[in-house]
Amino acid sequence: MAADRSPFIHRRWPYYPPPRLIFWTAVFAALIVFLVFHSPPPDAPPDRRPTAAWGGQGWERRVLASARPRSNSPSHAAGRGHLSVLVTGAAGFVGSHVSLALKHRGDGVVGLDNFNNYYDPSLKRARRRNLDRAGVFVVEGDINDAALLSKLFDIVAFTHVMHLAAQAGVRYAMKNPASYVHSNIAGLVGIFEACKSANPQPSIVWASSSSVYGLNSKVPFSEKDQTDKPASLYAATKKAGEEIAHTYNHIYGLSITGLRFFTVYGPWGRPDMAYYFFTKDILKGKPISIFEGPNHVSVARDFTYIDDIVRGCVASIDTAQESTGSGGKKKGAAQLRVFNLGNTSPVPVSKLVNILEKLLKTRANINVLPIPRNGDVVYTHANISYAMRELHYKPTTDLQTGLKKFVHWYLDFYSGNAKWVP
Ligand SMILES: NC(=O)c1ccc[n+]([C@@H]2O[C@H](COP(=O)([O-])OP(=O)(O)OC[C@H]3O[C@@H](n4cnc5c(N)ncnc54)[C@H](O)[C@@H]3O)[C@@H](O)[C@H]2O)c1
Repeated sequence: MAADRSPFIHRRWPYYPPPRLIFWTAVFAALIVFLVFHSPPPDAPPDRRPTAAWGGQGWERRVLASARPRSNSPSHAAGRGHLSVLVTGAAGFVGSHVSLALKHRGDGVVGLDNFNNYYDPSLKRARRRNLDRAGVFVVEGDINDAALLSKLFDIVAFTHVMHLAAQAGVRYAMKNPASYVHSNIAGLVGIFEACKSANPQPSIVWASSSSVYGLNSKVPFSEKDQTDKPASLYAATKKAGEEIAHTYNHIYGLSITGLRFFTVYGPWGRPDMAYYFFTKDILKGKPISIFEGPNHVSVARDFTYIDDIVRGCVASIDTAQESTGSGGKKKGAAQLRVFNLGNTSPVPVSKLVNILEKLLKTRANINVLPIPRNGDVVYTHANISYAMRELHYKPTTDLQTGLKKFVHWYLDFYSGNAKWVP
């Protein structure tokens, strides 16, 4: 019995663990379970977060009300019938402007956006408030949610889908490649799948990008040029999107129009784009970096004002022919188009900074650096003759005028006074 009390016996692993050990083991196990189920993986793409709940009678009523065109809409008067458009990426920069333009002229519009945090989601929510006031309901959800898309098509016979949701940005692709595959490849396929199964099938207009021209050195860039040398993963996903569009047009008779936007800027713009963060940094007195190409060549962009882009998007909807299939079956050849939407007058980034300095009445503290090899190209310039012919597209805003409107909005917005001026 004395041996039972020896120190040796007490150091052995006890057969029945003491209550304190059981307690801490349980706490530790619970913590691990919590972390496994509640933490996102370290590099989770921002748009993979769970989406808000949707559905229910109130939700369906809001979708229906938003999708209803005005009885005297100009589209109807022009013989195109009543339009109901599903706009994906509606809380985004281009999507919010296009949604408002369509709603203002009397079309029915339902928005869809996942409000991801690639850039400050509070800007997306501010855009959503503008849309709300105009009678556009933006559904919170992901384009990869097949059940949500199928529900939306059950409720509304959309005549058109304006597909603008995407993971944008060239440099971020090196940080979070999966988000580009998720939104620009899988998401695009999800949209095409929903459209091909819908009855009637809608016509689709979607955003490709000027970045598909990649390492192309022939300028100005024409839709007939080869686009098989993308310089970034972003560009590669947009190029892949154009090929996927061809497949869905060929197999299912979907009418599809791809738009290659060239550096869009303007009020309610994107904080990850140079004109936007240059403005922020100049005002804060922070240094800004501008890049130059080999042999000190200026980096230049064909900056295109948002209102011109919106007119190109709306004209694409108005000239889109109907899809020919129904319920997943093709009934005949359907329209397949790709247009450049640019301003067709490239401006060096140094000139953009000069204009901003004058508008902000502040000197910029500029560092000139060689262009990094992270996907940016030295020069973009759109040949827009095809869009001019087919869409009557004619950009009217030069960079000085457009930046003046942007700066005016920026100062108002960040002082809490911005009103939507369409
Ligand atoms: N702005 C430009 O200069 C430019 C140039 C070329 C091409 N584009 C293309 O035009 C389109 C619109 O661009 P933008 O400048 O308005 O960008 P944006 O980021 O402001 O808008 C995209 C919107 O899509 C949403 N979104 C992203 N992934 C989604 C998903 N999986 N499900 C639902 N919503 C999702 C985002 O939350 C965002 O609000 C994009 O396809 C972009 O690639 C833009």
